[in-house]
Amino acid sequence: DEALSQTLNRASRSVRARRAVESFPLTRKVVDRFVPGETTADAVAAARRLVDTGREVTIDVLGEDVLDLDGARGMRDAYLSLVAALAEAGCAAGSDVSLKLSAMGQALPGGTTIATDHAAEIAEAAQAHGCTVTLDMEDHTLVDSTLEIGAALRASYPFVGNVLQTNLRRTPGDIADLDGTGARIRLVKGAYREPESVALQRKAEVDHAYERAIDALMASDCYPMIATHDPTMLDRAVERAREAGRDTGETARWEAQMLFGVRPELEQRMVDAGHRMRVYLPFGTDWYGYFMRRLAERPANVAFFLRALAHR
Ligand code: FDA
Repeated sequence: DEALSQTLNRASRSVRARRAVESFPLTRKVVDRFVPGETTADAVAAARRLVDTGREVTIDVLGEDVLDLDGARGMRDAYLSLVAALAEAGCAAGSDVSLKLSAMGQALPGGTTIATDHAAEIAEAAQAHGCTVTLDMEDHTLVDSTLEIGAALRASYPFVGNVLQTNLRRTPGDIADLDGTGARIRLVKGAYREPESVALQRKAEVDHAYERAIDALMASDCYPMIATHDPTMLDRAVERAREAGRDTGETARWEAQMLFGVRPELEQRMVDAGHRMRVYLPFGTDWYGYFMRRLAERPANVAFFLRALAHR
């Protein structure tokens, strides 16, 4: 599993592998399990279905690492259209959009200002419709910049959230720094393969760090968004939230989050128990990097992929 996971992670950054996977005739059918459509209309329809079943959503326009300013502006515009479409469909209030700063121009010359300005325009539109914004976290080289941009945006838009990854050794310190800001913080295990100098390598260590981070976030004044498909972690979050008096239902001061299509039955269990449950809904044509990371984090998904191909 480990070797396969490493290969898939490498493939997620390879142009040749990308061409091969994208041109496979049945790939799209399998991708549908994780990415429910390519257009804004597909995303809004999927959001509506989830909202109608008691879930909330955070929507991601797929795309990362834009190469020029036009590309970054195109991504900003895609988010502005998304927020407008959610508002028109009557499901903007309470929804969230998740964006990658690399897609907003973070790596371009002068990228901090460009990405901050683009994200601020999206936050302004989101605010007008009762929608929130979360900045996805990418690889470790972008963590400082992403946390700084998050803090800068919160000065005007306090609902802008950041993501922390428990595979990174720095995360306990980042939680301590964020305590006192009241920020929305999504906690994840981390989807990027990182060097040992900055990241824990063994799954058991990352899981242990996740448990400690749940405890720290629940005891802080931040709004914890516990993003995992791991029932042990969710049980711990429920317990710690209860101890911290964070409540359940609409007034709850924490929420669980899962990726679309990974464990719908576990989502339902959380909804039935009265917890806030938000589903991360990615859409768009640029699904390759996202899809490959989902295969890499659970190589059993490759078998699912191959089975679908065999049954064509
Ligand atoms: P873990 O990997 O231990 O899996 C627990 C169980 O969940 C598995 O045994 C399996 O049953 C199931 N499972 C997990 N992944 C699966 C998959 N792909 N297919 C099928 N079953 C699967 N990462 C990041 O670096 N930056 C970010 O911004 C985000 N954002 C984000 C948002 C949300 C809402 C979620 C849920 C996750 C992210 N992630 C992320 C991804 C995260 O870092 C992590 O890679 C995955 O969530 C998998 O880790 P788990 O916590 O689910 O546990």
